[in-house]
Amino acid sequence: MPENTEMAEPKPSKKNLKDEGSVEKKKKKKKTRSKEKKTWAEEGQPDPFEVLDALPESKQQEIQRALHLFSLGQAPPRSLAEARRHTYRFWNTQPVPKIGEEVKDHGPILEQEKCVAREEPFSLPEGFSWATLDIQNPAQLEELCLLLNANYIEEDDNTMRFVFSPQFLLWALCPPGWQCQWHCGVRVNSNQKLVGFISAIPSTIQTYDTELPMVEVNFLCVHKKLRSKRVAPVLCREISRRVMQHRIVQAVYSASNVLPSPTATCRYWHRSLNPRKLIEVNFSSLGWNMTVQRALKLNRLPEAPKTPGLRPMRAEDGPAVQTLLEEYLKRFQLRPKFSEQEVLHWLLPREEVIDTYVVESPEGVLTDLLSFYTLTSAVLNHPVHRSLKAAFCFYYAHTATPLPRLMEDVLHLAKARGFDVFTALNVMENGSVLEQLKFSPAEGHKHYYLYNWRCPTLAADKVGLVLK
Ligand SMILES: CC(C)(COP(=O)(O)OP(=O)(O)OC[C@H]1O[C@@H](n2cnc3c(N)ncnc32)[C@H](O)[C@@H]1OP(=O)(O)O)[C@@H](O)C(=O)NCCC(=O)NCCS
Repeated sequence: MPENTEMAEPKPSKKNLKDEGSVEKKKKKKKTRSKEKKTWAEEGQPDPFEVLDALPESKQQEIQRALHLFSLGQAPPRSLAEARRHTYRFWNTQPVPKIGEEVKDHGPILEQEKCVAREEPFSLPEGFSWATLDIQNPAQLEELCLLLNANYIEEDDNTMRFVFSPQFLLWALCPPGWQCQWHCGVRVNSNQKLVGFISAIPSTIQTYDTELPMVEVNFLCVHKKLRSKRVAPVLCREISRRVMQHRIVQAVYSASNVLPSPTATCRYWHRSLNPRKLIEVNFSSLGWNMTVQRALKLNRLPEAPKTPGLRPMRAEDGPAVQTLLEEYLKRFQLRPKFSEQEVLHWLLPREEVIDTYVVESPEGVLTDLLSFYTLTSAVLNHPVHRSLKAAFCFYYAHTATPLPRLMEDVLHLAKARGFDVFTALNVMENGSVLEQLKFSPAEGHKHYYLYNWRCPTLAADKVGLVLK
């Protein structure tokens, strides 16, 4: 069966329309209704989005990428060299360090008094309106899942795309102190379809010696059909306005492309847990002189965890985990400061969302912890596999168990629980253990940014903040 057949509306020929009186009336009605929806379509021209909709998904993705390349004249900069050649029409107007600027001092770019939030929202293109999403409402949460799951980050070769579950989004977007106003959506006026989103969550961040109330901005997403129309800058401006209304004037965020200007550049590393599947879906490739059998052998893990006292975190561990984490993270120059409530929100295990293991000594003292969150990706256009389950290394702290041992045990547990791959950024102390635990470096980078805060750039191993 050809893909997308349900979406492709058969177009009646002119001859048929002339011949069929009553049918014609019905069709006219339908035509008027569909015209109302097409706020962006030129009068008398076929709606290019409808034409695009009728194509198979893989074709749509190809065209979308080509359109992006041609309309911008350039893809988003992925390296500093590309960034130097790019004109940042939006970001050059924002309180962020310029590309190539060497920052040696610490402090705000705009003083608090100058950050006055305007009363009225920023203007969207005609035909679109702001919509604050109530994600506690299951129907609206489902709409957000639909938008992100069809339009969020994909692998460059269109083989995979993140799939966010409702429970993952509730975890990621509703930590203590969350604000409904900071779940900021864009809808099409005519049919109320959600086509854009950006979010902020409150977070206390320490940068070098300064602790500041900030927000973490995340889930910036514009529907594929609305790309390259400068909607993203309006979303960024609007979320800044809504955050500034709460007198918060700094933010932290990350992106895979280079924007002005990274505070830190980190790299993803992957550890195969299910090498055969990863090879089959083209997530990993067999290197020179490597066979599937050898890959399986190479990635074998111990039969059982080696650390005595390793167990899942429980609610009553909250205070001890908070103390462990706060002490451990002090060695990094960019880090969060979690309240006990935040520790429970971010780390207490939730099925298919977050797992945290702690080590309890025979005396009942918690000495170590390691957590990971779950993100599944849809495997696109594959005859056998539909999804890939990844564990993403989150926060850890260790005082008694060496980090490689702790992480190896958690790799074992993740494998036993059906995860295909364990992914980590080279933040915190990860860089020193990744190779020995058989992680391989990925192509992708994650650049960390600070909004309205200047400070010298940081090496990845000085970063103690894990952005999702
Ligand atoms: C990221 C995304 C919203 C950008 O939208 P777009 O339609 O391509 O871009 P627009 O024409 O609206 O705006 C372009 C501006 O947004 C900036 N921009 C692009 N990606 C950005 C990002 N991740 N964060 C902040 N700004 C970004 C561009 O640099 C450009 O500004 P400039 O002129 O100063 O260079 C869109 O590509 C998308 O939804 N991608 C999938 C999800 C995703 O990758 N989200 C980011 C997660 S980190």
